[in-house]
Amino acid sequence: MHIAGSIHADYSGIQPQWLHRPADLNALDLKLWPAGTYRDDAGGLVVAGARAADLVAEHGSPAYFIDEADFRSHCVAFKEAFPGWKVYYAGKSLLTRAIARWVAEEGLNLDVTTMGEMRIALAGGMPAERLAFHGNNKSEEEIAFALEQGVGQFIVDSFQEIERIEAACREGGHRVQALVRVTTGVEAHTHEYIATAHEDQKFGLSIQGGQALAALVRCEHSPFIDLRGIHSHIGSQIFETMGFEVAIRRTLKLAHQFRTATGVELPALDLGGGFGIAYTEADSPKPLDEIAAAFEEMVDHECRALGLARPELAIEPGRAICGPAGVAMYTVGTIKPVELEGGKVRTYVSVDGGMSDNIRPALYAAEYSAVLANRTSDAEPLLCRVVGKHCEGGDILIRDVFLPSDLAVGDIIAVPGSGAYARSMASNYNQVPRPPVVGVLDGTSTVLLRRETLDDLMRLDVGQ
Ligand code: LLP
Repeated sequence: MHIAGSIHADYSGIQPQWLHRPADLNALDLKLWPAGTYRDDAGGLVVAGARAADLVAEHGSPAYFIDEADFRSHCVAFKEAFPGWKVYYAGKSLLTRAIARWVAEEGLNLDVTTMGEMRIALAGGMPAERLAFHGNNKSEEEIAFALEQGVGQFIVDSFQEIERIEAACREGGHRVQALVRVTTGVEAHTHEYIATAHEDQKFGLSIQGGQALAALVRCEHSPFIDLRGIHSHIGSQIFETMGFEVAIRRTLKLAHQFRTATGVELPALDLGGGFGIAYTEADSPKPLDEIAAAFEEMVDHECRALGLARPELAIEPGRAICGPAGVAMYTVGTIKPVELEGGKVRTYVSVDGGMSDNIRPALYAAEYSAVLANRTSDAEPLLCRVVGKHCEGGDILIRDVFLPSDLAVGDIIAVPGSGAYARSMASNYNQVPRPPVVGVLDGTSTVLLRRETLDDLMRLDVGQ
């Protein structure tokens, strides 16, 4: 079905200000795509050496394709931009056994939050001592498992957790290295649900309220805990270094207070993750070396001012490693022009996935972009809204994007920047099986996480 007849070219009032009508719809905005993505002579999008149309023919859609070389290149980029720092990949952003292996092979460490993430990381060959165990409600079972495996460090989040860790250490004859997660009071400029350093939220212990210092002292006096230092994570998808700089200042001030209280200097400081990536033309993340230089300068400045030795530093990027390496592909199922007030028309393009495989637009009003992937088109750009197949009006994947006006049922749409927090937060809403994660390297694709089937769903349904 072609829709050219129904185009209304006046988008004033319904087009967001940041979105520009592209001069050439077939051109790729290279900052959004895995390095080396291009269109071949026939116009098809090529990701990691594989044609989008071939990938979808082989693996179906919707599907998440991860460019392995691009993923690894982001691991390397962090190591190179932050020499001497410990880099933990945040497994919550996307984790499979193969991905844990890539991270291990690239020499990074891994941040895990649950038994599930620990099990996958270990099964992928990540050594336990390179794991950092996060979470605000670690269960006794998870704590015991982590101790038995020899997990490298715990990021302690509450006084109850300290007691649970001590009880488990007493019982199993373990000792553990720990950081205390603190809230620095920084208001990170990002969506409320992914900002985590302001006071009124569930993570960490407050510096301002004194609980952070109390927890550090408590850990220092514990016979089972080898206290390493302070952990701060201010939020996610952050572009400005300012929030991190405030966090550095406040955590080092806390380290200084701790030294005054105990005479002990804390050897480590972990600044968490949160490095923003480009999802649309409007996003311009800073180069990593610029971010690193700002961090370094701030740490050195504060340490000098407080007379502290420079601690061993760590960061925990998730999105900035897996996000840009991932491309989601969908097939167009229906195209519906909807008349708005004033005679304008919004074109709804329905694809075969939706909020069950990417909840981010619905949850955080996250913006994405997309291109027609199986061919090029010289047709006029048409402002479209890409929506999913779920029974919910808010099932919007891309609120506003220009696609060619000859877009047709069966065309493939590719969405860049899809590696992080889409498949990892996927659900079975409307009993839709979750899509696969497919690694692609030099034109060869390998299923890392297979597509769920209706049989998988039926097997879970054990009631009569
Ligand atoms: N470290 C800690 C302690 C974290 O809680 C997180 C993310 C990270 C590191 C990694 O942050 P990243 O570098 O990926 O920004 N679901 C949301 C993001 C939630 C992030 C949760 N914690 C989203 O889709 O935007």
